[in-house]
Amino acid sequence: MPSLKGRDYIETQDLSREELDLLLDTTTELKEKFHRGEPTLLLPNQTGFLLFFDKSTRTRNAFEAGMTQLGGHAHFLDADVTQISHGETPADTGRILASMGHGICIRHDLVLGEGNRYMREMSEATDVPIINMQCDVDHPTQTLADLQTIREKFGNNLSGLKIAVSWAYAPSYAKPLSVPQGLITLMTRFGMQVSLAHPPGYNLIERTVEDARANAATSGGSFEIVDDMDTAFQDADIVYPKSWGVYDLMVARQAATTREEIDENQRACLAMNDKYKDWICDERRMGLAKDSAVYMHCLPADRGAEVTDAVIDGPQSIVFPEAENRLHTAKAIMSCTMRERPF
Ligand code: CP
Repeated sequence: MPSLKGRDYIETQDLSREELDLLLDTTTELKEKFHRGEPTLLLPNQTGFLLFFDKSTRTRNAFEAGMTQLGGHAHFLDADVTQISHGETPADTGRILASMGHGICIRHDLVLGEGNRYMREMSEATDVPIINMQCDVDHPTQTLADLQTIREKFGNNLSGLKIAVSWAYAPSYAKPLSVPQGLITLMTRFGMQVSLAHPPGYNLIERTVEDARANAATSGGSFEIVDDMDTAFQDADIVYPKSWGVYDLMVARQAATTREEIDENQRACLAMNDKYKDWICDERRMGLAKDSAVYMHCLPADRGAEVTDAVIDGPQSIVFPEAENRLHTAKAIMSCTMRERPF
């Protein structure tokens, strides 16, 4: 039987299928207990640090509420008001936090090339689990919740199900690449047929694309990249359209250090997005997918841009059960990494 005690959770690629199944089964157990009102005090007196370099609604609250429900305490840290902003290294920050608590959860997602490296550097220096609450490469607490939601809808055997992971227009900000990257790498592990659609220039980190291809070959699933949303949606069981940033501009963001340079990079991304306003998930496009298809989004969604209200508020949308599963999966990840198998 697998154990994740003491392990990091940085990318789903780092875990075996059996370890992912352990997290999913633990999620189901914790969710049922939550709904029955049964206490699950699996981490009494433990402290989990939540270190944020970016904003959050779902992830922060899933981890804070989750840790409370597990009997421990989640300590929120805004990186901007710690000594990290004066240059303290991930190793030194990690050593300090590890000496005072039992796990370190980090969101560091906005700059390609930074967040994942930060987490792995901290992991080298610490002996407590490092949990990725979203980096530049993966958003593995989100995609585990997505997988849980899909299993609840379609059953545990996902072989042959088609998921369309599509870029969609957004005017709000250049969103990280980590959700589509996390989806293509995780869903291909489970034998699904993954169709990735994006306009030119919105490619993902090549290593994640290679992982998706290799995963599909191993699992008996499939992976394709297409250049229009309609093709991806055709006969899909699940559609997951969301925006992300222009790859080269996201890479260039690493070199932008002043406020003006960061703002200019953001403006350039949004100007490119404006060319593709027709990449919206609307009722016509939903009609291309199977009648039984579901609409998913990690949220927040740009309503009227990524998706119409009719779709996100319509009968095929499962975005709110999907968001609730952030709580149950966060609890499963914390309890499985911070103690021996809980159930
Ligand atoms: N989906 C997601 O990660 O939401 P937040 O950014 O609100 O945490």
